[in-house]
Amino acid sequence: MTAETLFLPRDLPLWRDARPYLDVRNNDEHTIIAYALARRLVALTPGAEESVVLPAILLHDVGWKKVPEDLLLHAVGRKPTRPDLVRDHELYGVEIAREILERHAPEGVDIDAVCEIIDGHDTVKEAKSLNDAVVKDADKGWRSTPHGMRTIGGWYGVGPDEVLIMLEEKSNPLMLTPAGRALAEGQTTAVRTEMMIEACLGHGPEFTTALPPGKGADKWQRN
Ligand SMILES: [Fe+2]
Ligand SMILES: [Fe+2]
Repeated sequence: MTAETLFLPRDLPLWRDARPYLDVRNNDEHTIIAYALARRLVALTPGAEESVVLPAILLHDVGWKKVPEDLLLHAVGRKPTRPDLVRDHELYGVEIAREILERHAPEGVDIDAVCEIIDGHDTVKEAKSLNDAVVKDADKGWRSTPHGMRTIGGWYGVGPDEVLIMLEEKSNPLMLTPAGRALAEGQTTAVRTEMMIEACLGHGPEFTTALPPGKGADKWQRN
């Protein structure tokens, strides 16, 4: 899969312009996975509009680039000391996203609706609209993917057990749509159950070694 197949043709120019703003805190990787999840969630959520949801998820985190890099880890996590920076990244994000969107003026995209979702995508827990709910679910749903779990574990220096607890207690309850909830709870349930394989079978998971190391999700299982 390439950017050309992952992103809709309408969104490719937005992606190219967003990339320089997404090279902090794994946001480029987070964004492509959240975008792919958003495409699925839109398809599974009657009434959701891809022309709002997809540009919004693509651009939602561009504002982190303007937050000093040494402060990023203080903004999120279990006990953040600088939660104000979360609000800052939303406001910076609206500014940057609006500039990109107005420059490209993608056909059929309601720029105000996209910016309205970026503004508050993390700090406002309730959905302002169905489109907002789908964007929030794609964003938070990423956390429970293999990539999200591994990334979060790396940020805080904790293993899968602790990441799972955080997801189950703090993140999954935030999911807003039936499809989003199924996505997040399905993934954490699968990982939680995988940890019980040894208790059930008397031996741990027996993976094949056919995959070379470093090919993505398999790395989560190896460490
Ligand atoms: Fe964000
Ligand atoms: Fe995000």
